[in-house]
Amino acid sequence: MKFTLLSLFPEILESYFSSSIMARAVEKGIVSYRNINIRDFAVDKHRTCDDAPYGGGPGMVLKAEPLAAALDFAGAPHLRTLCPTPSGRPFTQDYAKSLSAEEEIVLVCGRYEGIDQRVIDLYVSDEISVGDYVLSSGEIAAMVIIDAVYRLLDGVISLDSLAEESFVEGLLEYPQYTRPEVFRGLKVPEVLLSGHHANISAWRREQGIMKTRKYRPELLAGRKGYEI
Ligand code: ADE
Repeated sequence: MKFTLLSLFPEILESYFSSSIMARAVEKGIVSYRNINIRDFAVDKHRTCDDAPYGGGPGMVLKAEPLAAALDFAGAPHLRTLCPTPSGRPFTQDYAKSLSAEEEIVLVCGRYEGIDQRVIDLYVSDEISVGDYVLSSGEIAAMVIIDAVYRLLDGVISLDSLAEESFVEGLLEYPQYTRPEVFRGLKVPEVLLSGHHANISAWRREQGIMKTRKYRPELLAGRKGYEI
C-alpha cells in the first residue's frame, strides 16, 4: 500500500516512516510512501503557502494554489484523498479497515486554521477527525490514521494479535499480565495460570465487557449478549 503525504513539515513524517515496525514494513515492500513538500509548489519569491482568512478572524489559512499544484503532482484527482481535520468524520477501527483495502491514499496535512475550502471541494474524498480535541499539527493526525491502517496489512503484525485487540467484536481489550506472578503484592489472576483455555477465554471476555462498560458504555448500548 502506498501513502502519499502533502505537508509543510515532511521531516516530521520522515522519522515515522524510518523507525520501528513501520520501517520494517517499508523494507519488506508492504508499505511505500512519498513525502511531498507543499512549499515546493508555491510560486512567489517568498514561497508563501498561507494567508489571512476572508471574512476576518484569527490565524492563517493554507492557500489553494500551492496545495492544488501539489495535489495535481501527486495524482490526487484519481486517488482517495484524505484531509485530517477536527471538523471531519470520526475515525474508527472500521474506517481504518476500509482504508486498508485501498492501493494508495493521499493525505493532506493541514496547519493553522485549516485549508481553503475550494481545495477540499475539488480534491478531498474524506475529511477525518481522529478525536474530539484540536491538534496543532495535521501531520500527527495523519500519522494516527496511517498507523491504524498499515498495521492491518498482511505481513505487518501477527493475525493473532489483530484478532484479540480492542474494538474487535466492538469491545475493549481485556487486561494482560506477564512474569513475575506477584508484583508489589499484586497477584496475576489465578485463572490465567490454570492452563484451562475455555475458562481463560470466558474470563477475558468478561473482563473486556466490564472494561467496556466502565469506559465506553455507549459501545454496548442496544447490544444483546453482553450482560455478565
Ligand atoms: N488536526 C487538528 N486536530 C485534528 C483532529 N482532532 N483530527 C484530525 N486532524 C486534526
